[in-house]
Amino acid sequence: MKYIKILFLFIVVQVTAQQGGMWIPSLLEGMNEQEMTSLGSKLTAKDIYDVNNSSLKDAIGHFNGGCTSEVISPEGLILTNHHCGFGEIQSHSSLENDYLKDGFWAMSKQEELPNENLYIEFIVRIDDVTTKALNGVANTMTEREKQSTIDKNINEIQKTVQKEAWQGVKVKPFYKGNQYFLFVTERFDDVRLVGAPPSSIGKFGSDTDNWVFPRHTGDFALFRIYADKNNRPAKYSKDNVPYKPKHFLPVSLDGVEEGDFTMVFGFPGTTNEYLPAVAIQHITQEFNPSNIAIREAALKEIDAQMKASDAVRIKYASKQARIANAWKKWIGENLGIKKSNAIAERQAFEATFKKALKEKGLEASYGNILPEFEKLYADFAEINIRRRNFIEVFLVNNELMQMMFRAYQLEQVALNKPERFDEAKNSYINRLKGIHKDFDANVDKGVFSNVMPLYNPKNVDASIYEKTSFTNLDNALQLFEGNAKKVVKNLNKDAAYQYAKPMIKEFFTKIDPEFQQKNQPITALQKTYMKALMEALPNARYFPDANSTLRVTYGQVRGYSPRDAVYYNPVSYLDGVIEKYVPGDYEFDVPQKLIDLYEAKDFGQYTDKNGKVPVCFLGTNHTTGGNSGSPAIDAHGNLIGLNFDRVWEGTMSDMNYDPEICRNIMVDARYILFIIDKYAGAKHLIDEMKLVHPKKK
Ligand code: ARG
Ligand code: GLU
Repeated sequence: MKYIKILFLFIVVQVTAQQGGMWIPSLLEGMNEQEMTSLGSKLTAKDIYDVNNSSLKDAIGHFNGGCTSEVISPEGLILTNHHCGFGEIQSHSSLENDYLKDGFWAMSKQEELPNENLYIEFIVRIDDVTTKALNGVANTMTEREKQSTIDKNINEIQKTVQKEAWQGVKVKPFYKGNQYFLFVTERFDDVRLVGAPPSSIGKFGSDTDNWVFPRHTGDFALFRIYADKNNRPAKYSKDNVPYKPKHFLPVSLDGVEEGDFTMVFGFPGTTNEYLPAVAIQHITQEFNPSNIAIREAALKEIDAQMKASDAVRIKYASKQARIANAWKKWIGENLGIKKSNAIAERQAFEATFKKALKEKGLEASYGNILPEFEKLYADFAEINIRRRNFIEVFLVNNELMQMMFRAYQLEQVALNKPERFDEAKNSYINRLKGIHKDFDANVDKGVFSNVMPLYNPKNVDASIYEKTSFTNLDNALQLFEGNAKKVVKNLNKDAAYQYAKPMIKEFFTKIDPEFQQKNQPITALQKTYMKALMEALPNARYFPDANSTLRVTYGQVRGYSPRDAVYYNPVSYLDGVIEKYVPGDYEFDVPQKLIDLYEAKDFGQYTDKNGKVPVCFLGTNHTTGGNSGSPAIDAHGNLIGLNFDRVWEGTMSDMNYDPEICRNIMVDARYILFIIDKYAGAKHLIDEMKLVHPKKK
């Protein structure tokens, strides 16, 4: 009896320790359900995903294919991050109505603002279609033959799937192509902007606080889905009506405490959790550093010029944020890999794997995988860096080179597909106009002088900025008047084009093909490795890498220790906003109204039990890019927060989730409600939600 008790305790402890992973919502029964329960959840697998009844999944929408959003009222009110709705907020902004700076609140449904090209997609059903997708695939086939067989199968699956006329369907590979799942989807295209706080709340702390804790950002925005009279997806029409969802999330006023269960439900983009040690080594010791260096060189110039001029600051705000976001993430990733000793740990794991292969008699089939990885990566490293450096310089950091890159593609259309030239020219011209809207030749030249030496040190010629037509929109547009022949001729006379063309040509004819050729066997081997892992060590927890499909991740509210002798509490408060306040600062200014509310202690019902307004909190949920805007859900299925970031040392969770230091960052639902109600005075929005007190039962 005693022995059984001890054994039971051991199992419970084991299970409690199991966190991390992004799980397929239709497959939670069994192991995940048990783990969630042991972490404090009261939800069943069916509460989360059910095909025949409404369930939590019906409230979760993919926001424009990049972020996540959720329904929080019976009238189709949608919650997502401020940084996810940033483009929409910006597009409705002007100098007179600066919604980015001042915020925006629709005081009635008539005032809600329609958005072209914004959609929200829900998942109706998930089916395992592995057998059908892999039908006819044989080991004797080449990789290309395998893929074409799979593509044909997927086509067939999509054609014959049972679904309503207005629903969509997609099939995606999981576990590196060892499994396939089908998704029936419902996509809504009439999504209107309802509310956004000023950037001094929604983006409070900006780059300095990005990817770090303690955090005090109210990173949220509100939208609403409109449907036709039958509650079905429809293009924008003023006759559309607010969408009546199958499920919406009640919002909890009780919040969470350290140790409470949390679950994050959303659309994580990409992870790489099953890399061999040699790959992690390459990424963190060679690949990341070279990309970090290029972005650092670009940011040095952009940051200096933004500080020196308000006009530049406004033009470059969004670009700078994009460049800095990944730059800072990579630095954190390297830090975390080092701190957690991830490479040595992965090597130790590989020793276990090798031992298991031997014990199970699998050496003949899989024994060469790890040595093969070593060889392939040794051969791949240089071209991977070279290709990525090209992309960083020509497509991310320098805009003159970006204009040249696209011009080269236009020239290829002119030469090879003349019938498509007019269409391609128009889209090029639109792109040019888009770039020039926020372009400053002087800043771009400075960026060029800083980054080009890191790609092609022998060939840096900033004098092209004085000679080219592309630094001025009108001059540039003149080059594109007339037919294909004329445009090609004009282009090839331009100094910047003459300068950049050989490098771009080299990219398309040498660099990229070599990259593809060396990457393909790695991808194929990674698929075999995944299969081998699952056969050799069948009892480990395997979740499929993120691939922009709907996933569940769960954990608990927890602080963490980033460094020796430092511990971060899991919750931050409004007091911290005021502590960080720097009047007039571009990152840490605070709106006067928020200061007034704070001083008057006018917090309404949005405080914790000590009378303080919680702002952000940490959890052990395993998230990644794409989980922005995902709901944080409590043990009962209520909304307690909104995911928007991870902590710096934990961004390595894309390759190596470590429950010691990997934390996701969420805005507390009560801060969101407080801002909507007390700051914006948009009480009508609160009234359409369902506020609950799960802890006061
Ligand atoms: N780091 C978060 C993410 O990866 C937030 C980015 C937006 N905020 C910012 N300061 N750039 O998307
Ligand atoms: N901010 C990220 C996003 O836009 C989420 C943070 C992360 O990468 O975990 O999806």
